Amino acid sequence: MVKPIGVCIGEPSTREVEFISSGAIQLGDYVELEYEGYRVLGFVKEIRRINRSLTEDLEPEDVEHLRKLTDKNSYFKGKISILGDVDRGMFIPRVPPEPGTDIFLASGKTLQKVFGKDDGKKIHIGHLLTREDVDVFIDIDSIVSRHLAILAVTGGGKSNTVSVILEGMLDKYGTILVFDMHGEYVNFDYSRDGKSCVRRIDLELNPTRLSYHEFRLFANVDDSAYIQDRYLRRAFKIAVEEIQSGQISASDFWGRLLGELQNYRNDEAYKEDWKSITGVINKVEDMQEFYGGLFNLLQTPIVDQIEFGKLNVIDLSHVDEKIADIVVSHVLRNILEKRKAHVREEPGGLEFPVFMILEEAHILASSTINTKSRYWISRIAREGRKFGLGLCLVTQRPKALDSNALSQANNMIILRLVEPGDQRHVQQASESLSSDLVEQLPSLNVGEALIMGKMIPVPALVKIKLAKAKRSGNDISAVDEWKKYRKGVPDSKKKLKDFLELGDTEF
Ligand SMILES: Nc1ncnc2c1ncn2[C@@H]1O[C@H](COP(=O)(O)OP(=O)(O)OP(=O)(O)O)[C@@H](O)[C@H]1O
Ligand SMILES: [Mg+2]
Repeated sequence: MVKPIGVCIGEPSTREVEFISSGAIQLGDYVELEYEGYRVLGFVKEIRRINRSLTEDLEPEDVEHLRKLTDKNSYFKGKISILGDVDRGMFIPRVPPEPGTDIFLASGKTLQKVFGKDDGKKIHIGHLLTREDVDVFIDIDSIVSRHLAILAVTGGGKSNTVSVILEGMLDKYGTILVFDMHGEYVNFDYSRDGKSCVRRIDLELNPTRLSYHEFRLFANVDDSAYIQDRYLRRAFKIAVEEIQSGQISASDFWGRLLGELQNYRNDEAYKEDWKSITGVINKVEDMQEFYGGLFNLLQTPIVDQIEFGKLNVIDLSHVDEKIADIVVSHVLRNILEKRKAHVREEPGGLEFPVFMILEEAHILASSTINTKSRYWISRIAREGRKFGLGLCLVTQRPKALDSNALSQANNMIILRLVEPGDQRHVQQASESLSSDLVEQLPSLNVGEALIMGKMIPVPALVKIKLAKAKRSGNDISAVDEWKKYRKGVPDSKKKLKDFLELGDTEF
């Protein structure tokens, strides 16, 4: 018979129980209690160690004295969250346990039952922080349909967590689209049947496939420049319509657009606006010069380049935040339209669900700046589950992330988080995150995380495993790199000798 490790005291409620224990019990441990015919799982959310003899008001000499007498006389006191009956779908009994009820450390068997195994739809993410023998799995369908936020300080282990999830999804022929802000995932080395599963999508946009609003952003024509806006909109529409109807070929786009604007510029009827029209012509010319390499009039839309069963990566590391915003919003808009078309059985739809990773989510869905992507991220966060579109928002600055987008992420993986403002923001967005758990966040080590949401049966503190696939962006050891460089470089005296062809002459 297993020995109890503690006992319920005080005034237990259906959700929370106070306990005392003489044996070592860790924060984050899982315990079992039997009462009213239920076998209930609990989570140690608060723990203190007490020695009644050593009270606060003692003099140092007295403490020294008493310490010898009362050595090993301390006990533990803490609080347990009731999670529910393991055999009855985590049902929480409506009657609290009686004070005096025994508390047992949860058996490996019980925990394995709770945290499951791969039933063909799960990802092995790591093991319980307090129990290395208990593997933890997260449910892929719940992640895609209810979205995911991965939050941590810089270097907390966000990208490694993303990599573990990517591997788990690719194992199941998942289709993933990564907006790669740092060029970290282009070299992700995951293969299936000897073939790489990474599809790098070139960052080339076809201007004729942009919405007018997206096009206008590149031209730097904002809302307040309404005269410029009026002429540019008209010329853009004419050029695009003529391409679509086959009157002109796609390669004539820029010539047709500028030609149309020149026509307005030469038309007496628009004399009053000539200055504005000249301004907009200059802006279109500047746009061609600045973003020449980004535009390709023959390119198929990015969404049509997404390949099934692969990690599709759009490398955004070479463009600034403004361009990243336009590209991300353009792709999100298209992907939502195409998935809707598929569900409605219209032609040209995107035939499979896609999970999308947005690193630096606080830039794209900022709480303060009204970016274009923010709108589409919120739309997909709200509507995506009906169309098989999942979002993974990754950020090291949770409080700068739009709270609307964050609260739509039902699933959360929170690694080390030290800033109180960040912690508050996360807590406000998630009703199930208790203050006790928030208090744990600063003390987590790299790769240790609180995982919660629909993807996991009960919240858990987890040690996330290291991803197998390599990617760029891991921490660099400056000392190693200097050493490597030093070894590879001939010393300067020798270089000088070689240069002067002086052979072994002493200097
Ligand atoms: N679960 C883990 N176990 C062991 N080491 C880890 C784990 N996760 C991350 N690390 C180590 O910590 C370092 C930083 O991890 P990672 O790049 O995932 O952090 P990050 O939060 O994405 O950082 P950044 O904010 O810079 O993007 C890596 O070099 C990695 O080796
Ligand atoms: Mg990272």
